[in-house]
Amino acid sequence: MNNARTDELQRGRLGATRALAAGFDGVEIHGANGYLIDQFIQDGTNLRTDSYGGRVENRVRFLLDVTKAAISVFGADRVGVRLSPAGEFGGMADSNPMATFGYAAGQLNPLGVAYLHIIEPRVKGEVDIREGGAPVAAQHLRVIFNGPIIAAGGFDAESAAAAVRDGDADLVAFGRDFVANPDLPHRVQNDLPLNAYDRSTFYTSDHRGYNDYPFATV
Ligand SMILES: Cc1cc2nc3c(=O)[nH]c(=O)nc-3n(C[C@H](O)[C@H](O)[C@H](O)COP(=O)(O)O)c2cc1C
Repeated sequence: MNNARTDELQRGRLGATRALAAGFDGVEIHGANGYLIDQFIQDGTNLRTDSYGGRVENRVRFLLDVTKAAISVFGADRVGVRLSPAGEFGGMADSNPMATFGYAAGQLNPLGVAYLHIIEPRVKGEVDIREGGAPVAAQHLRVIFNGPIIAAGGFDAESAAAAVRDGDADLVAFGRDFVANPDLPHRVQNDLPLNAYDRSTFYTSDHRGYNDYPFATV
């Protein structure tokens, strides 16, 4: 193993070790949304000519290295992986996303990770780009990945229930509605209306849009 790869593994271990020391129960490896691991995976951004670039086996290597490093700290049942097949955020692009992410999902099987968290191609960052439709990314990857699938991106209570009922995903994650509804599960369970989120406060640095959305009164 070359030195650069040893460094990457140690860095992955260090992050997980700090998370463990801080009291977290597990970690989710962020391989989505144009962050570093995603930049390695997708061939629109990975222009490397070493063993981490070129064919898909090389581009997915960094994801697997980091995942293995986290597993060595937490154990596989405490490590999940988040991917965004067809993710366009941050200028991401791949010439064959289904093949690329299908390969990645298949390689996660023998590692025994706790779950695969997939962002559907209906959102770009926090902006909707396609409304509704079946969760295609989850459908495609669930026949490859053996463990639990979490789907995210543009779901409401109804479409989330449908995705689980139809077997497209095992769980559904919510982003924006949770930002605006501190009691989201209570509201969904009791069929209460949701607070609308205010996009202008999503990326600000004070309390507004952070801890001032009201709880339901019933
Ligand atoms: C304010 C805000 C910050 C976010 N930050 C991140 C992030 O750092 N990393 C990430 O992968 N997704 C991030 N997301 C995306 C969410 O994790 C989620 O995938 C997205 O909002 C789609 O789910 P939704 O339709 O339920 O909101 C963010 C979303 C919002 C609204």
